[in-house]
Amino acid sequence: MDSNKKDKRYSRLYEQIKTVTEKTDDKLAHMSTIAAILYHKMDDFFWCGFYRLLPNGKLTVGPYQGPVACQELEKDKGVCWAGINSGVSIIVDDVEKFPGHIACDSRSKSEIVIPIKDENGTTIAVLDVDSKNYNSFNDIDKKWLEQITNLI
Ligand code: SME
Repeated sequence: MDSNKKDKRYSRLYEQIKTVTEKTDDKLAHMSTIAAILYHKMDDFFWCGFYRLLPNGKLTVGPYQGPVACQELEKDKGVCWAGINSGVSIIVDDVEKFPGHIACDSRSKSEIVIPIKDENGTTIAVLDVDSKNYNSFNDIDKKWLEQITNLI
């Protein structure tokens, strides 16, 4: 998808997600809505969902859409943990080149991870999106997915 089209698509989806998520304060409901809308409306979103850092320290799958995924991610390994530990968004053009990448599905080729923080600035979860194509994600995805996850 070209950059202009992608930007406009995200802009529309942001408004739609905002309208739906305003109806409740529940974070799991927000995550479910975001996963469903993005998965069904964005091209290339082969897997789209959340991993939540639980009080027991385990990074555990949350609401998602797409093929079945790992329940828990081994601590400090892979892209999602890198997002949790660094607190910044991570774009991976080729997952095989990311040291420690965890392949829940071998068809995934590129990935973006967006950390989600609570009111105190503590990272509590990540949004993870996988694509079956290389180089699917860029700064436009990062900008909009950060804005969308700010609605949680
Ligand atoms: N690839 C992720 C694991 C989650 S799946 O992609 C759904 C990682 O390396 O953390």
